Amino acid sequence: MVKGTLFYEGKAKKLFRTNDSAVVWAEYLNQATALNGVKKDQINGKGELNNQITAYVFDFLKTKGINNHFIKRVSSTEQLIQSLAIIPLEVVVRNVAAGSFSKRLGIAEGKILDQPIIEFYYKDDSLDDPMVIDAHITYLGLASDQELEQLRQLALKINQALKELFDSIEIVLIDFKVEFGRQKDGTILLADEISPDTCRLWDKKTNEHLDKDIYRRDLGDIVPVYQEVLNRLEKRGK
Ligand code: C5P
Repeated sequence: MVKGTLFYEGKAKKLFRTNDSAVVWAEYLNQATALNGVKKDQINGKGELNNQITAYVFDFLKTKGINNHFIKRVSSTEQLIQSLAIIPLEVVVRNVAAGSFSKRLGIAEGKILDQPIIEFYYKDDSLDDPMVIDAHITYLGLASDQELEQLRQLALKINQALKELFDSIEIVLIDFKVEFGRQKDGTILLADEISPDTCRLWDKKTNEHLDKDIYRRDLGDIVPVYQEVLNRLEKRGK
């Protein structure tokens, strides 16, 4: 596989073409951002950790029957993924109140929700990724009703699998964000990354944050914390 030209540069990843049009070469960056890029820092080691954690999680999800774009890791900071047309929606699943949910609705962080809550955000930096309802998604032509239903089902299935995974390493999955893409034939696959950048993870015993809130809230260095998540996953085995 040959790494070709850069075609996308996001806040946390660069994507390159390869000699196979169905395969994309993803490079995880050391950049951390918050507040839609207003807060920005270089954090050595972050790219490597998120590349490894995402590889582990996506492989785990495959064992649970959740197909995804991950093919294989090719270096400490790089992985091969399937080429997809990304659906510009961020799908957030919440098990416990935190973050924007707590702020918007005035619910204390840490309150367990009776059932998972799914939210959709329109991926558009110039609009600050607004939350959208089904009618907005239909109006914008982002997904059909059938696809939306599929995204909800997939999000809940991913939530179940991730809760099980993190529970096995003494971590509570508070909430997370996922993205999806379409293959050429329209099949929807889980895409992007699943890492402490995209999940809220609290230590089961101490409620300590093991995620990007450490960075967002200036609580310290994320590298040892992300490393702790990776260590627990690796100790768990395949
Ligand atoms: O900030 P908020 O509470 O809406 O975030 C919900 C979840 O989605 C968190 O786990 C957060 O890390 C993730 N998220 C993300 N990328 C965004 C917004 C939220 O990964 N742009």
